Amino acid sequence: MNPSLTVRRIAAEEGAVFRELRTASLREAPYAFGETLDDALAADASTYDDTARKHATSRDIASFILYTEGHPAGLIGACFDDSAARRAFVSELWVAPAVRHLRGGELLVNTAGDWLSDGGATEVYAWIADANRTAMRFYEALGFGPTGEHTRSTRAPDQWESLLVRHVAQQQYLAAP
Ligand SMILES: CC(C)(COP(=O)(O)OP(=O)(O)OC[C@H]1O[C@@H](n2cnc3c(N)ncnc32)[C@H](O)[C@@H]1OP(=O)(O)O)[C@@H](O)C(=O)NCCC(=O)NCCS
Repeated sequence: MNPSLTVRRIAAEEGAVFRELRTASLREAPYAFGETLDDALAADASTYDDTARKHATSRDIASFILYTEGHPAGLIGACFDDSAARRAFVSELWVAPAVRHLRGGELLVNTAGDWLSDGGATEVYAWIADANRTAMRFYEALGFGPTGEHTRSTRAPDQWESLLVRHVAQQQYLAAP
């Protein structure tokens, strides 16, 4: 693991950081997310402040931020859905291109996974666009496998997304780069 990379849960006052990372991810990798850059830019600053406050303290939803030497460089969301099974998901994963292949993505997924596990999850799910081969291979390398569940993408209904799952006991770490 690269020692300059750290991950921590978003703080309540980090609405501006959340907005910066969210818009950067949608600008750089629009194919990977359901939301559009226009939607994100149109949202009022107070929306991000509200989200940061909620994601900093809620028991059901959280965001985690990747820092490299103090600079925000990546993001992941984690949540429990409101079904009776209270399924646990990671989502909205993004690592800035300048710091890719340094295990920042792995650190984000595993930190979010630990938080979900602490909240009672025994399985962690992730929806991945079938066309996003990089993300598919990344999640597979971290021990995620197919559930057999597929759905049409909300962003591009001609495309499909697949639901992957990792059992918490199977959490994997990649070899050091
Ligand atoms: C997917 C993403 C988060 C990976 O972040 P990262 O910090 O580079 O990932 P890590 O360094 O932790 O792990 C990289 C490992 O994942 C796997 N991997 C990543 N990209 C890969 C690719 N194109 N082909 C094969 N394996 C790949 C490999 O095992 C790789 O190890 P390596 O660097 O030694 O080859 C990053 O590429 C990204 O932000 N992409 C754009 C947004 C996106 O697609 N998000 C996912 C939404 S579902």
